[in-house]
Amino acid sequence: MSIRDEAVLREFNLYPLWVRRDAPSLAVEVEVQVPSVQPVARMEAPDIQLPIETNVPPSSLTEAKQVEPAQIQKTQIDADWPELKKQVHGCTECKLRATCTQTVFGVGDEKAEWLFVGEGPGADEDVQGEPFVGQAGKLLDNMLAAIKLKRGRNVYIANVVKCRPPNNRTPEADEIVQCLPYLQRQVALIQPKIIVALGKTAACALLGHDATLGSLRGTVHEYQGIPLIITYHPAYLLRSPSEKAKAWQDLCFAVSTHSAR
Ligand code: URA
Repeated sequence: MSIRDEAVLREFNLYPLWVRRDAPSLAVEVEVQVPSVQPVARMEAPDIQLPIETNVPPSSLTEAKQVEPAQIQKTQIDADWPELKKQVHGCTECKLRATCTQTVFGVGDEKAEWLFVGEGPGADEDVQGEPFVGQAGKLLDNMLAAIKLKRGRNVYIANVVKCRPPNNRTPEADEIVQCLPYLQRQVALIQPKIIVALGKTAACALLGHDATLGSLRGTVHEYQGIPLIITYHPAYLLRSPSEKAKAWQDLCFAVSTHSAR
């Protein structure tokens, strides 16, 4: 195992806990199917009760649930990449543009098989104009590396909203409704084989209804006919590192879903 692999497994609390399947252990064994990573991981204290992300105000996506599909249809966009980038750059459709520094369009391989969707830019992203470049982004990069992916290589990263919400608050329903057509178009242009929603806001925005993250994990959902897997937001994992084992399970589930396509 390379030092890099070791670092990635440490990030997920999976190293040095990897054990042989026949080794005596009280811990629960979890099957994982990641290419060239040992196939059996012992994860400590797996928690049956899935947590609800308490940091996400319940308001925005409960309201998003009330968005009529017709409302989204009306604003459907047919632009190509250059035109779409221009539209996002010039967008003033919601109040977020007035307080952010710049729009953050998305980054990566425009023909990627993997699309990762976050909530919205934070302070670092607002300054640099690229999604997931702060601490959460570093963790996301390690999550990608854990499944042999790399930002920009067969991977595209985008957010539900393209402008930073003030003080990193959760985007409000009207902001999500205004911005979602841009993401819809990004998905239509990329045509990824799989989408991974990072956190409840991204998950519920793509699904169009409210639900707890725990109830959405472990199922292959669909967005625009593309398999959608839901996992924790890296920022949540930074605050709750003990949940990384579950994120690892979700990523392994995404890998097997992707392989089956
Ligand atoms: N959190 C997100 O959801 N997106 C980013 O780009 C950065 C942090």
